[in-house]
Amino acid sequence: MSDAIDSSKIIDGKAVSPKVEAEVSKTVAALKEKGIFPKLVTVLVGEDPASQMYVRMKHKACERVGILAEDCILPATMTESELLDKIRELNADQTVSSILVQLPLPKHISSQTVMNMIDPKKDADGFHPFNMGNLLINEEGLVPCTPKGIIRLLEEYKVDVQGKNAVVVGHSNVVGKPMAAMLLNRNATVSVCHIFTKDLKSYTTAADILVVGVGVKHLIKEDMVKPGVVIFDVGINQDSTGTHGDVDFANVVKKAALITPVPGGVGPMTIAILMTHVVKCAELIAQRK
Ligand code: GUN
Repeated sequence: MSDAIDSSKIIDGKAVSPKVEAEVSKTVAALKEKGIFPKLVTVLVGEDPASQMYVRMKHKACERVGILAEDCILPATMTESELLDKIRELNADQTVSSILVQLPLPKHISSQTVMNMIDPKKDADGFHPFNMGNLLINEEGLVPCTPKGIIRLLEEYKVDVQGKNAVVVGHSNVVGKPMAAMLLNRNATVSVCHIFTKDLKSYTTAADILVVGVGVKHLIKEDMVKPGVVIFDVGINQDSTGTHGDVDFANVVKKAALITPVPGGVGPMTIAILMTHVVKCAELIAQRK
């Protein structure tokens, strides 16, 4: 028997993200006709190589879709108060439609304090409590990009969410909590687990839809899922052998109906969705004028 992976099982974010970007390009062109020029300012504090790479990827995506991109690189030694002043300045700048502060921030700066300072209408990441609160009451506007990317993939692959058992492993503000809220808003029955959950397997084996993002290499094995499950792996774990997901892909793919690979599954969608949000911000800011 061949070990080749059945490609019909793969949820291919790398293939879907250009489609999203093409939609954004069209909207950007239409906005420019109306004199609206979407612009993203990405703030990077310090020199973390992974963050530098993400900022470059966001900048390039902006260029592909016609969004103006500016990177604001600041020293790791700056104070929280100085960073808050910078955010105030960007909030007041009429030419800036979106502000993104790359995380993580240096330990002496509270990321929540910084997120709270960003004008909610310029919050392309959807991390401001105003936007998070709206998500919880099923008024989805600007929402975190990774879970929104997963929702778009569910739609693309025509996976009906209503009435399904969805299990989210991870309860971060960036992925787990907003993911759970988005699935609940679409009438799934949602369980939220995390690394402290006792007997994780008893939850994951009940999942029709499983989203995993805790940063533990190959946490999910074949015996932890049921046949026909749809799996989204948000884990990115680097070691000397390469990049690995939180799901043991080779081991689990046999039982899954659909599954995202790492890399190339969920990752490319995050930035494509970010581009849709920059456009949304530009529209919100234009309405204010
Ligand atoms: N660091 C890792 N992922 C993200 C993200 O989606 N947004 C921001 N601002 N920082 C991140």
